[in-house]
Parts: sequence; structure tokens; C-alpha cells
Amino acid sequence: MPKKQIYLTGFMGTGKSTILNCLHELCGYQKVEMDEQIVLEQGMSISDIFAEKGEECFRNMESELVKRISAMDNVVVSCGGGTVMRQCNVDEMKKNGIIVLLTAEPQTIYERVKNSHNRPLLEKNMNPEYIASLMEARRQKYEAAADFVVKTDNRTAEEICLEINKHLETYDNSKKDVKLMLKKLKNC
Ligand code: S3P
Repeated sequence: MPKKQIYLTGFMGTGKSTILNCLHELCGYQKVEMDEQIVLEQGMSISDIFAEKGEECFRNMESELVKRISAMDNVVVSCGGGTVMRQCNVDEMKKNGIIVLLTAEPQTIYERVKNSHNRPLLEKNMNPEYIASLMEARRQKYEAAADFVVKTDNRTAEEICLEINKHLETYDNSKKDVKLMLKKLKNC
């Protein structure tokens, strides 16, 4: 059965949204950035949803969105960093999708996210030590959910997409012309 969705998962700051945009350009698949979609539908920022409705409510919104996405064809998805913490989400994603885990070292993540203020879980804990401890607490679930893992430290989006593509070639509906990909990558 061909896979219909490519899910990018991983801790905050592992480059899911950047790689989403590249893959969208490359595959011609539709794209869904889950946080962006929730913000759009709720008319509220992620920080405001956490503050006013609570984390549990945000997690329910994520689960409901995952269900809708799992019925879509040819879509590349950037998940929230906590999406695969719920097993029901993973089960839904696995029905027809491929789960890619992007990783980075805590220090790399810190450098990438330190100036942003849209991640409520890091807002009062913006330091590499906290990032390392939360990542460690989540590691087992990230790894168990993943079909394959791609490291992102010190690598360009182009290199990361090519590695993802190499893995995807093992799935029947995703064979791509690498030369065409490279040409397109210059523009993303
Ligand atoms: C979260 C990650 C965020 C966002 C929310 C919670 C998490 O997404 O969904 O702040 O629990 O790791 P990004 O990974 O896109 O930053």
C-alpha cells in the first residue's frame, strides 16, 4: 500500500518547518505545518492557547488535526515537537504515513530557538540543560515512532532533504529524480 503522508517529527528546533518547505517544493506534495494550522483555525497564537486554554486542550487540537491529516493524500507534514508523545497520534500517523525523526544536539537547538518566543514549554527554561533533559525524557517515544532518523547538526537543508529522499526511495511511491531535486533545491 503506497504511503500517503510524510510526517516530520522531532524536538523543537530540529528544522521540521524548514525541511517541510523544501520537501514541499521537491515532491509537489501539499504541506501542512501543524502549529500554523492550529493557529489559523483557532485565531490564537500557540502561547495564547497554552495560557488561556491549557496544554491538554492544545494536545486535543493536535490529535484532532492528526486524524484529519491521516485521511489526506500526498501531503508532507511538520508535526509539533510533542505530537508523537501521544500513542493515539502515532497509531493514526502510521496507518498510511512515513514518520521521519529529525534530531539535533541540545546546544544546536538552543542556538536555533533562543531568540524566539512562540514556544511556551521553553519560555521560562531557555537553556541547553533544560532542552537536554526534556529531550532525554522524550527520546524513547521519538525513536519508537520513527521509520528512520536524520541528523541535522551542521548540515544544510539540501543535504538533509537528499538523505530523506534516499530513505524515501525504499517506499514505492516516492522515487524521485535526484538531479531534478538538486536543481529545485537551489530555489528553496
Ligand atoms: C511543542 C512544540 C511546538 C508546539 C508547542 C509544543 C512541544 O512545536 O507544538 O509549543 O511539546 O515540543 P515546534 O516543535 O514546531 O516548535
